[in-house]
Amino acid sequence: MGKFYITTPIYYVNDKPHIGHAYTTFVADVFARWYRLNGENVFFLTGTDEHGGKIEKSALEKGKTPKELVDENSDKYRQVWEKLNISYNRFIRTTDYSHEKAVKLFLQKVWDNGDIYKGEYTGFYCLPDERYITESELLDGKCPTCGREVQKISEEAYFFRLSKYKDKIVDAIKNGFIIPEKNANEILSRLNGELKDLDITRKNVSWGIKFPFDESHSVYVWFDALINYLSGLDWPDGENFKTFWPADIHLVGKEIVWFHSVIWPAMLFSAGIPVPKRIVAHAWWTVDGKKMSKSIGNVVNPIDMVEKYGADAFRYFLIREKPVWDDGDFSESALKNRINGELMSDLSNLVARVLTLAEKFKGKITGNPDLEGFIDEEKVRAAFDNYDPYSAINLIFEGIRKVNKYFNDKKPWTLEGEDLSNVLYNAIEAIRIISIFLSPFMPETSEKIERMLSVDTQTLKDAHFKTNVDSVKRGENLFNKVD
Ligand code: ME8
Ligand code: MG
Repeated sequence: MGKFYITTPIYYVNDKPHIGHAYTTFVADVFARWYRLNGENVFFLTGTDEHGGKIEKSALEKGKTPKELVDENSDKYRQVWEKLNISYNRFIRTTDYSHEKAVKLFLQKVWDNGDIYKGEYTGFYCLPDERYITESELLDGKCPTCGREVQKISEEAYFFRLSKYKDKIVDAIKNGFIIPEKNANEILSRLNGELKDLDITRKNVSWGIKFPFDESHSVYVWFDALINYLSGLDWPDGENFKTFWPADIHLVGKEIVWFHSVIWPAMLFSAGIPVPKRIVAHAWWTVDGKKMSKSIGNVVNPIDMVEKYGADAFRYFLIREKPVWDDGDFSESALKNRINGELMSDLSNLVARVLTLAEKFKGKITGNPDLEGFIDEEKVRAAFDNYDPYSAINLIFEGIRKVNKYFNDKKPWTLEGEDLSNVLYNAIEAIRIISIFLSPFMPETSEKIERMLSVDTQTLKDAHFKTNVDSVKRGENLFNKVD
């Protein structure tokens, strides 16, 4: 049995989650469920990023203490994950005592390695993005990534010798550290320029982990946050760390690839810890072409979508509507089209028609497997191994359409006896196998199908035609038309 460790970014809790956060966490959930289905030992970490000036400011505006705000909003993330059936193994918060302890230990290792020194920082800071920006990076005097106002700052700070690790980072990236290639190329071209050391403490942010070597400073929120991937495994001594590190996938939005592919490996090199295997970057959900974002305020609440359409319809939409690597515009009408389209016509109607006929059939349903291999398991596996669950769901639905065609072509309503039994056998077994392949994407739907077919929880090993079919019971429609 292999192991598989996947993480999401830990989200800022200055506000509640929107569809962008739901997307990353859901996609990570699909990977986690897929590798569990394959019998792997999986650890799936998500959580919340709770320190820093942005949260301090947000709390102040809302008339709360930072602690009140982060407790409230961290809970909101957890509630959404529950509604979306996210199967995480641990939810980490950077205000957890165990995390803070890990950050201090990590800093000690970097310090002992001679990679921290005191200096003077002058430059700009983008508060919404929590990032430092140099004069030359500014675009029209604004943040180059989000286009918002920046603050000019000049202060005493401690620096991390990021520049020292440049060559090792470039090597790693050239060896496929970042998926997809377009994001790797972006980072490589940025690394063509000078890589400056990184300011890792702030004097005027009080809501943060105290810098252990000078308590008048707090630790830069990104330096703190990245360490969650270790503290979430109880680094340094935890069993989970021994079993699961290094991470197989850090799944992130494309705007934070730099932090994960440059700063994070440099930190790990310095602390003497192996680096993760892959940084997988996905693109954005947009609204009218603009990134959906808390700070822009054009957000859609995932809870509303789940309450209106159900978790699985929403999950299906998220994976099917756009390739992982491309931006895509969110619209509720597109979501409805997915439900009334393939979820109804390819999946729900197929199950209803087959099981209605099967319920009426007197006698044992059995036959010969005409449809074995209707979902190309090797291709689905390759899609996941290429970090591409979007292609995987398309392959599965190609298979579902083959079953529809088979059922229609055989005209079972004109058949009886053994001929009818054979068609029902094939269709029912195919539906059982479909429920296995769908389970990473639509776990509730998959369970509903299993109940209709009276089968237990299945693994990928069960995705082959058996000799006969147990009693079937047509339940409620899997999906219903929405207006
Ligand atoms: O960056 N489309 O937190 P954050 C797709 N705390 N995904 C989106 C998205 C969109 N429009 N908007 C957000 C932080 N996301 C840091 C991370 S990790 C050590 C620290 C998703 O609350 C996407 O995964 O700003 C993005 O990278 C993440 O939310 C940013 O969340
Ligand atoms: Mg952000």
